[in-house]
Amino acid sequence: MSAPRHFLKLGDLTLAEHRWLRDRALALKQARRLRSPIDTLRGRTLGLLFEKSSTRTRVSFEAAMFQLGGAALTLPMADSQLTRGESLADTARVLSRYVDALVFRTFGEDRLHAFAAAATVPVINGLSAENHPVQLLADLLTIEERLGPLSERRVAFIGDGASNMARSWMEAATLFDFDLRLAAPTGHRAPGRPFAESPAAAVAGADVLCTDVWFSMGQEAQAATDQQAFAGFQVDSALLARAAPGAIVLHCLPAHRGEEISATVIDGPHSAVFDEAENRLHTQKALLELLLA
Ligand code: CP
Ligand code: NVA
Repeated sequence: MSAPRHFLKLGDLTLAEHRWLRDRALALKQARRLRSPIDTLRGRTLGLLFEKSSTRTRVSFEAAMFQLGGAALTLPMADSQLTRGESLADTARVLSRYVDALVFRTFGEDRLHAFAAAATVPVINGLSAENHPVQLLADLLTIEERLGPLSERRVAFIGDGASNMARSWMEAATLFDFDLRLAAPTGHRAPGRPFAESPAAAVAGADVLCTDVWFSMGQEAQAATDQQAFAGFQVDSALLARAAPGAIVLHCLPAHRGEEISATVIDGPHSAVFDEAENRLHTQKALLELLLA
């Protein structure tokens, strides 16, 4: 049997496949608006396994499968034998006998890769310590919908520069060749790209402002000791005023208003965060078709 096609990071698809996925996601979005029935995944089943909480990823993948004529089931971690010591590899091998693809949300890349290596069906990364590729699919579509070709846009990411979101933005900028400016406190910067001296320098003239929580799932204990490091890194009206006039603001959600983003910005006219959240559904439908149909 040939090795399954996984989607663990953006670079696991070719540029041609990314273009197809974007166009297909827009067509699927339009079809949903028109209530046109689509059954490209009839008879197919997606399994979802989460080691961390989720609202969007779980519901958008489940809804995507149902709306394309297939089925989805989520195994809550607490109910699984993983919590009683069954290995990731055995779990992946067994689940692969029941379903046609798997979504896995986990901690380190080592766990993601151990699971994917043992699976015999496609594995989709539903968020790991260093990647959130399904979120980026939605974010990139949102930028192109609102502002046109990505290659002509300047994107600024402000916040935890070592987070899964910051790292996925870095991968996206390399793959799709757009201008990415990063601002993060020292001690919260992933290697591989330069960081701006300040949030103000990063957002100057930017078309897109992105942020994410300062403390990701699993890092909550750091919030008590390290919150002060992020003083001055809130995406607020003053920072937004330094961006390009028609700039949009993205946040993968969940958000902490008053921490990484002000309520006036996330609930204001520049915010595209709810379109961004909706686009998870359309882009993941296209991804599932690409991997399964
Ligand atoms: N943005 C995102 O992945 O949200 P959830 O944690 O709710 O899935
Ligand atoms: N960086 C955040 C993203 C949540 C969708 C986290 O990992 O908790």
